[in-house]
Amino acid sequence: MIAQRPPMGFNTWNCFCGDINENQIKEIADAMVSSGLLDLGYEYLVLDDHWMAPERDSEGRMYADPQKFPSGIESLIDYVHSKGLKFGLYSCAGMLTCGSRPGSFQHEFIDAQTFAKWGVDFLKYDNCQKPNGIEDHLLYRRMAMALRNCGREILFSACSWGEYGTHDWARNSGTNMWRSTGDIQDNWVSMRDIAMSQFAYSTHNAPFSYNDLDMLIVGLYGKTHIGLQGCTDEEYQTHFALWSLMTSPLMISCDIRNMNEVTKTILTNKELIDINQDIEGRQGYAWKISKDAEYYGIAKALSNGDYAFGLFNFTDNDCTITNSLNIKFWDIGLPLGCGYGFEMRDVINHKDVGLMKEFVTVNLKAHACAVFRGKLVKYE
Ligand code: GAL
Repeated sequence: MIAQRPPMGFNTWNCFCGDINENQIKEIADAMVSSGLLDLGYEYLVLDDHWMAPERDSEGRMYADPQKFPSGIESLIDYVHSKGLKFGLYSCAGMLTCGSRPGSFQHEFIDAQTFAKWGVDFLKYDNCQKPNGIEDHLLYRRMAMALRNCGREILFSACSWGEYGTHDWARNSGTNMWRSTGDIQDNWVSMRDIAMSQFAYSTHNAPFSYNDLDMLIVGLYGKTHIGLQGCTDEEYQTHFALWSLMTSPLMISCDIRNMNEVTKTILTNKELIDINQDIEGRQGYAWKISKDAEYYGIAKALSNGDYAFGLFNFTDNDCTITNSLNIKFWDIGLPLGCGYGFEMRDVINHKDVGLMKEFVTVNLKAHACAVFRGKLVKYE
């Protein structure tokens, strides 16, 4: 059974764009293992656009660009599998990909069979260059049907950018994750706006089909083609906390061969990953915790009865003592004076912070967050 939990892995697009090749992908595979990412659950290594040759072969099959992958895709897949990783490829619902390589329209079944024969485990399916006259969701239903009958378990990652009511058809069309927004850019506003745009959809996430908030931008630092602004480390931390509490797939997109220590610390926070990967797959629900400022709380119910709580300062100002952020447990279902409270643990700083009876309060810098895991306890 695939995608019981939000899928985790690495995707080439944000960091490398079309500049991919077989040695580099092998090095990425090696780094996913040696850095400990695989052990934490980052298991899919996904090649995005531009992996394929510009034309199909004489039998109408896609094949890998021989300039980039001179040994062929199957030997690369074998290598990736030999490391204990799973391998993903990219195609598109239209005639051509966004990068003008062959798309899968009218080739859905032959492509699914080809991918299965090669040993592919994951397909990202994009939304460019589609024909007129066919409804969007039907193109995704086609590929879902082809993949579900190709003889191999292949995770289906729909990349329909939230268009044409993706939320309403993606899950029941057989996808395993579905992009609910346009492309993330490597800056604070893009990341924050993607998260906030999905607060209203917290009931759509569940095991086997997850709302994909797009790849993680942690560690890009404004050096790639998706944004020259970049984020601060604090903003990248907030980003990872949001994706964890909102139960998004976690697809790394920085060059993991040379991550700095902060990037590694953020991406390998096991306590946050455990919250993201909770088996019930519930998305945290969000609400505004101040009338006067863009301060938000997110609470996620976990399978063992614990709750994860996030507090987020989305404003551009540090918060002061007088307007500190405050989650009242009343708002998540705890009656006042009931004798229960939460034994809290700070999962970003990895320390226990004790019993909180009615609320938790923090002061946060601009764009910062705090995340706690709380265990309900009776204190009187
Ligand atoms: C976009 C997609 C990106 C990336 C790119 C490749 O449509 O949203 O994530 O896959 O195409 O061309």
